[in-house]
Amino acid sequence: MIHDILWHGADYNPEQWLDRPDILQKDIELMQKAGISVVSLGIFAWATLEPHEGEYCLDWMQEVIDRLYAAGIRVNLATPSGARPAWLAQKYPEVRRVNPDRVRQLFGDRQNHCYTSPIYREKVRAVNQQLARRFGRHPAVILWHISNEYGGECHCELCQEAFRDWLRERYGSLEAVNRAWSTKFWGHDYTDFSQIESPAPHGEHAMNGLLLDWKRFVSHQTIDFMKWERDCIREIVPQAKVCVNMMYRFDMIDYFDMAREIDLATWDTYPTWHKPTETLEETALDNAMMHDLIYSVKGKPFWMMESTPSVTNWQPVSKVKKPGMNLFSALQAVAHGSDGVLYFQWRQSRGAFEKFHGAVVAHDGRDDNRVFLETAEVGKALKLLSRVAGTRKQKQAAIVFDWANKWAMEGAQGPRNIGLGYWEEIMRHYAALARIGIGVDFVSQDGDLSGYKLVIAPMLYMLREDFALKLRDFTASGGTLVVTYWSGVAGESDLCYLGDTPHGLTDVLGLRRCEIDGMFDGETRRCVAVAPSMPAHALGGTLCEVAALEGAAPLMVYDEDFFAGSPAVAVNPYGKGRAYTLATRFDEAFYRPFYKTVCEDILTPAWPGSLPDGVLATRRGAFIFLQNTLAASVDLGALALMPYGTAVFEERDGALERIL
Ligand code: GAL
Repeated sequence: MIHDILWHGADYNPEQWLDRPDILQKDIELMQKAGISVVSLGIFAWATLEPHEGEYCLDWMQEVIDRLYAAGIRVNLATPSGARPAWLAQKYPEVRRVNPDRVRQLFGDRQNHCYTSPIYREKVRAVNQQLARRFGRHPAVILWHISNEYGGECHCELCQEAFRDWLRERYGSLEAVNRAWSTKFWGHDYTDFSQIESPAPHGEHAMNGLLLDWKRFVSHQTIDFMKWERDCIREIVPQAKVCVNMMYRFDMIDYFDMAREIDLATWDTYPTWHKPTETLEETALDNAMMHDLIYSVKGKPFWMMESTPSVTNWQPVSKVKKPGMNLFSALQAVAHGSDGVLYFQWRQSRGAFEKFHGAVVAHDGRDDNRVFLETAEVGKALKLLSRVAGTRKQKQAAIVFDWANKWAMEGAQGPRNIGLGYWEEIMRHYAALARIGIGVDFVSQDGDLSGYKLVIAPMLYMLREDFALKLRDFTASGGTLVVTYWSGVAGESDLCYLGDTPHGLTDVLGLRRCEIDGMFDGETRRCVAVAPSMPAHALGGTLCEVAALEGAAPLMVYDEDFFAGSPAVAVNPYGKGRAYTLATRFDEAFYRPFYKTVCEDILTPAWPGSLPDGVLATRRGAFIFLQNTLAASVDLGALALMPYGTAVFEERDGALERIL
């Protein structure tokens, strides 16, 4: 069901309008006009569902669900754990989070409950099961929206104990913990588990292993809580499908781990379109990268769970989406594997924090303003493209993105404490490939590399032994591997590898790391080509790794500093494949020509011809999407693209037919 059509929907908060039956009536009528097929219901409705402890009021929701269903609209029913009622926070203080400084929060805000608290779990179970019993078998309910944007951490005593238990389980003994965390350094050996405390500004904040394991634990505990919520529902409705809404570049949860526990990955996307400091193409690529990451966490179609049809109210400046942008962003999501285009929110709230956040229906309640009409256009386009739903993307290139690697690398002191720019590094590879029209997935170190022609490991500082073996096998059996500087430095516990590095890959890459020099912002080192296939010049920055060749052929070399002449780009044949090393972070201009060379004989771009800058081509199954990121029309000969226009083609028997 969730992949049968391209769903069009929004967060719907009728609990804010229970005193206005006329508005609720109008909502259904307007939803039909806008081509809405699904709504996410009751995300923050706990206080209305259970106004007093154990007193449930579900009739209003029953009425809403029945009416939606009668109008042909399906429901993505939320568990309301994201924001708890005041009575609960007051009566049971343990449900409120404790900050790193060990101060317990007051009631307020949202997404700030303790994930460990048995009382919170019990209360969530009770309300979730009320919902499941009453609505779990309602034909309108096709999906469960588990909580909202899980995140954050709690440092209460219950969480400290849970952390210690998690460590016991992971390491088996305290000696193993001490070894893994290298506690001999500064003489911080633990002699009893009870001495271990989560990181604190006034306590331990310098022990890399502890910081890393705390991040692992927080991710684990959040997922554990989510599983608890899921299982409360599945106890009543075993076949219930569940999703969670994930977030942009979110650091605190390993979404690959989380995705294993859900049926549908979804995410909330709020790019600042029309930002004066970057091109719309850059904004689009940044957003596309996240779409592809969310596709990758399950390796199958996802939903764009939230987006604004017009503005947000929490960004520094609220920029409206210009005419055409709503359709552009909807189709971009579909092109990258989304089977749902949903908004936050259906109707603009009247008061409180989000009263100026965009919505399909604004305070004026009209259906003839630009936002509403453009939303209805999206509805029509999604219907027309319905057969795209469920189709998968072809495996072409994979970028290794691994949360634990990020945590470990960013938690370490040096080689560049002013910022390593991990996402920036990833973006350079991603954007170059996307501009060429090569499909990119992301894989973690638990991932499967089969089917890919090209694997890129940017800043894979923490390289697990088992993953190094996967990279070796991948290359030996004919794959093309690209590894950057600052890779293969440390193992799973963030203990540095002894001996030559990049650990496990020196023979694959045909070189070894000698030194790594940090660059200040704006500081660069000139690099020049020694092979005609490379760009003649490029600038290296951020980090400049100095390597000694052990069989690899240099393609570019540094041209200044004491390491002039040492390789900046090198290639090495390995088995049936080849492996490239990029020893520094180059200026952006380097990457497109580099990847054109790398991909030339191994991967086919989405669009057969050449495209002007600003037009992006994306392939999903047999469908090819051309999107114009420019504010001006683009003439492609037989085809013209309007400003922010999209054309969709279907490949049939080798020929392309335009279907939108
Ligand atoms: C999301 C959140 C929504 C809403 C939205 C506003 O992060 O899940 O509830 O607050 O932001 O942009």
